[in-house]
Amino acid sequence: MIEIVDLNAAYDKKPVLWNVSCLLPEGQMIGVIGPNGAGKSTLIKIIVGLIEPLSGSVKIKGSKNKIAYVGQRNEVDWDFPITVYEVALMGLIGKLGLWKRPTRQDRKKVMETLDQLGILPYAHRQIGELSGGQQRRLFVARALLQEADIYLLDEPFAAIDITTERLLFDIFTALTKEGKTVVVVHHDLTQIKAYFSYLVMLNIHLVAAGPTETVFHYDNFSKTFGDQVSILEEALKLTDSKKQGV
Ligand SMILES: Nc1ncnc2c1ncn2[C@@H]1O[C@H](COP(=O)(O)OP(=O)(O)O)[C@@H](O)[C@H]1O
Ligand SMILES: [Mg+2]
Repeated sequence: MIEIVDLNAAYDKKPVLWNVSCLLPEGQMIGVIGPNGAGKSTLIKIIVGLIEPLSGSVKIKGSKNKIAYVGQRNEVDWDFPITVYEVALMGLIGKLGLWKRPTRQDRKKVMETLDQLGILPYAHRQIGELSGGQQRRLFVARALLQEADIYLLDEPFAAIDITTERLLFDIFTALTKEGKTVVVVHHDLTQIKAYFSYLVMLNIHLVAAGPTETVFHYDNFSKTFGDQVSILEEALKLTDSKKQGV
């Protein structure tokens, strides 16, 4: 479980998180939703420990080493001269230490994980040669190799093909069935009910956090997304009809 208490964050005095408190339960698919600039990435980075908040605290039950993080696509230098295999291998650094050579067993584990994500044939390509979907698969592979208890992914489903989206969703679901916690910053408003058992609705302030069936309603949506609400009305209708199998 992750306990967030009275979190405040700002860049150059401009507040991006304001008194945010919530609990993220274990073993669930948790969606963090909100408009652009809502502070979603900042919240995730504070949980991971990449950014210091102005005030407030994040308490994580268990070890901090047990967190795997996948940032937004634009946070990676895709021209960096590193191969797919090498990026995946970095997932084992926590276990190996920086200077220890991987064993045959480690290399096998990396290859198996690349295979699970369908990118083994590209193992020796430079990372910039992959398609957007393949790049996302690679960073999920690296996260899986960390064998974390908590997975934090910033917009893993943004701008990818539907096959990759399904594959990743199935992998995340399997993780939660093993009792792991998966926190996903999410963009697509139509998949919220289908994907997440728990939601954090954020717009600098916390609008709501709780089980999707409790917090996913129009009122919270308009508080979260403001004037984008007409789109949201459609989104809500769409997800409801999907749920009823219409
Ligand atoms: N490194 C930074 N320096 C200055 N401002 C930033 C920085 N990162 C994000 N911001 C600003 O903080 C706000 C929240 O950003 P972010 O957490 O990335 O929101 P989201 O992920 O919900 O789009 C935005 O207005 C953004 O422009
Ligand atoms: Mg973001």
